[in-house]
Amino acid sequence: MQQTVRIAPSILSADFARLGEEVAAVDAAGADYIHIDVMDGHFVPNITIGPDVVKALRPHSGKIFDVHLMISPVDAYLAAFADAGADIISVHPESGPHIHRTIQEIKRLGKKAGLVLNPGTPVEAVDYLLPDLDLVLVMSVNPGFGGQKFIHGQLEKIRALRARIDALGKVIDLEVDGGINFDTAKLAMAAGADVLVAGTATFSGGPAAYAENIRRLRQTA
Ligand code: DX5
Ligand code: ZN
Repeated sequence: MQQTVRIAPSILSADFARLGEEVAAVDAAGADYIHIDVMDGHFVPNITIGPDVVKALRPHSGKIFDVHLMISPVDAYLAAFADAGADIISVHPESGPHIHRTIQEIKRLGKKAGLVLNPGTPVEAVDYLLPDLDLVLVMSVNPGFGGQKFIHGQLEKIRALRARIDALGKVIDLEVDGGINFDTAKLAMAAGADVLVAGTATFSGGPAAYAENIRRLRQTA
């Protein structure tokens, strides 16, 4: 069943020199999840932040830390992100040789587990894994950078995943990440998504605009 829309600002678009304040600001502005993009310069062509930064941010917000790992191999770092205060840990099936084991390890660490599908990854990647997942994330851009254009072909994947989640009858977040703005938020929700990652759309205009940006995203969705 599609849940109420939740907005997950991606701090990739925040001011990195003031990251703690930025997280507190989007929390106060009405964010539901804090989406944290972890990149290693190997799995994706960009480098961002590690577990120590997540740990440092933890006291700045009580909201759900939605940690999106774009690193490979990923298994060796799961415990560090769990200890740092992640609530949801999401991984790509391509980020290690044994994705089922990776998902089990996230759950063993007491965290919610998410699977992320790149634009070129078929919906069948959730086969045999869906009952163990708490979240499925559909990438509507190729991962690595904020501010890219929404790939409309991914709406079909969102619809297919909505049908699978509903058929299973388990509460699983269906999240979409990349190129979300006031127009694409509406399309993604209509296709069945219920968590919207928004970097550029949340942070544009600076701190004074965050509450209005989040409110408008929620309303248009
Ligand atoms: C891309 C990241 C996204 C990105 C979204 O690799 O996973 O979370 O920051 O940024 P926008 O909303 O600007 O497309
Ligand atoms: Zn992300």
